[in-house]
Amino acid sequence: MRACRKEPVDATPVWLMRQAGRYLKEYRALRAQVPFLELCKSPDLVAEITVGATDRIGADAAILFADLLLIAEPMGFTVEYDRSPGPRIHPALRSANEVDKLREIEPRDSLAYVFEAVRRSRAALDSSKPLIGFAGAPFTLASYLIEGGPSRSFRHTKTLMFRDSGAWHALMEYLVRSLAAFVCGQIEAGVQAIQIFDSWVGCLGPSDYREFVQPHMAAFFRALPRDVPAIHFATGSGLLLESMRDGGGSIIGLDYRVDLDEAWKRLGPDVGVQGNLDPVALFSNLPFIRQRVRKILSQAAGRSGHIFNLGHGVLPETPVEHVVDLVKLVHEESRRCKESR
Ligand code: CP3
Repeated sequence: MRACRKEPVDATPVWLMRQAGRYLKEYRALRAQVPFLELCKSPDLVAEITVGATDRIGADAAILFADLLLIAEPMGFTVEYDRSPGPRIHPALRSANEVDKLREIEPRDSLAYVFEAVRRSRAALDSSKPLIGFAGAPFTLASYLIEGGPSRSFRHTKTLMFRDSGAWHALMEYLVRSLAAFVCGQIEAGVQAIQIFDSWVGCLGPSDYREFVQPHMAAFFRALPRDVPAIHFATGSGLLLESMRDGGGSIIGLDYRVDLDEAWKRLGPDVGVQGNLDPVALFSNLPFIRQRVRKILSQAAGRSGHIFNLGHGVLPETPVEHVVDLVKLVHEESRRCKESR
């Protein structure tokens, strides 16, 4: 929490996107018994996974075990998770007419199970560790609803955006309202910080981002309490960093395709940064991981406001002992850097 507020810390804090997931055998064992959506809807199991993963790897924060697409269900979509290459959403949203018909959601009723999971996770978690809540960003959620699943070209999403900007902006306003209510509910239930995932927005060029996304991100962040740190993360966002910062968030989450020092220079001193080890580095060996940790810490150069993370989620086949080592290395090496300064 001190790092989020850009205050000095003894050691650089670290948590990992997807730290609760398939690389953990405890998680795989649970999943062999319980389908993913059912798991998300079982607050006790969510607390067990959220806290279990944090303790197992020694991370400094927990991220709530949930999914970006849970909110699609009360909006009237069906989500199937056990699909390759990723979740399938139907019926896909394709026309302005369908945008007009989207129903307003009341997260306090339809997503009450998430808030209950927040309360139980918070109660089970070490009191010194923050619990991070999250939501998808409006663009990324829109792209799932419109494409009906993952996409390479985002053809349907961009076609709606380019062909019918009125419908696009109305959809984004609807998503901002819904997502803000969902995030505020998580905060009321006890999360101390939030991360907004704009996982797919890197498919846009900077001027399209500024026209079609940034005003909605600004409205989204304005709707959240100012005293709760908000991490604004996107992938493939090297060309969008300044616009993302102008959209909002007190910390910008970097993916692994940028150099942290260069990115922070472009972002300026008013925001913190999170990141950004390539998740594939964890498939290498300890000396290589140590070298990469040192490199990232030297780029952060002891400045307040750095949170260590990967540049995207932990991959399912990652060796768990490398994840545990990574957390230790970040603490060890950042302490050493601070002592030598
Ligand atoms: O540890 C954590 O980070 C918390 C849990 C978490 C999950 N999904 C669990 C999950 C978080 C933060 C998410 C966010 C999420 N979900 C994002 C944004 C993050 C990103 O990767 O950029 C996205 C795009 C989704 C949508 C989603 N849900 C996808 C693409 C998938 C399938 C991907 C895959 O790895 O199969 C899911 C399912 C999902 N969400 C799983 C987990 C652990 C795998 C489900 C399983 O157990 O089979």
